[in-house]
Amino acid sequence: MLSIIHRRVNKLSETNREIPIIWSEMHMYTTLQLAKLVALKRDLNPELAGLVCAFHDIYTLLTGTHKDHGLLAKKYIVEIIAEYNENTRDELSPITEEEQQCIIESIKVHSDKQTEEENAYAELLKDVDSLDSYLAGFTPGHSSGRLPRINNLLTSLNIDHTVE
Ligand SMILES: [Fe+2]
Repeated sequence: MLSIIHRRVNKLSETNREIPIIWSEMHMYTTLQLAKLVALKRDLNPELAGLVCAFHDIYTLLTGTHKDHGLLAKKYIVEIIAEYNENTRDELSPITEEEQQCIIESIKVHSDKQTEEENAYAELLKDVDSLDSYLAGFTPGHSSGRLPRINNLLTSLNIDHTVE
């Protein structure tokens, strides 16, 4: 999956992007790893959680544009999963329709960090995205909804550190 995305990234140009390629790509890898860790902690499927996070800013990564990126991600998710499934032979299991739906739905709502979601993978994405931005050096705004997510996640991981 990552190699398919990486192949597309290699063809991109840095011109006219709101967000540099390196930042978007780094955020993809770091949220992917954090997702697996948090999924293990929450008894969720680490592979699915990893996919949700790896894909969450795919629109921004591939277009350089941020506006409505969660809503617009579907096209790329469907394309890339189809390419992946076509090329998985016996050694890797394909991504199911149900998993694809979970990925799309989680990503659609991820920009709204204030709202709590019923879908555990959508919640995980919001939490991981918030923490990852903090770890990358961004200060979360008090009204963004990120702050309580970061602090609750750190507490759940037994990390004695409060972000204010
Ligand atoms: Fe995003």
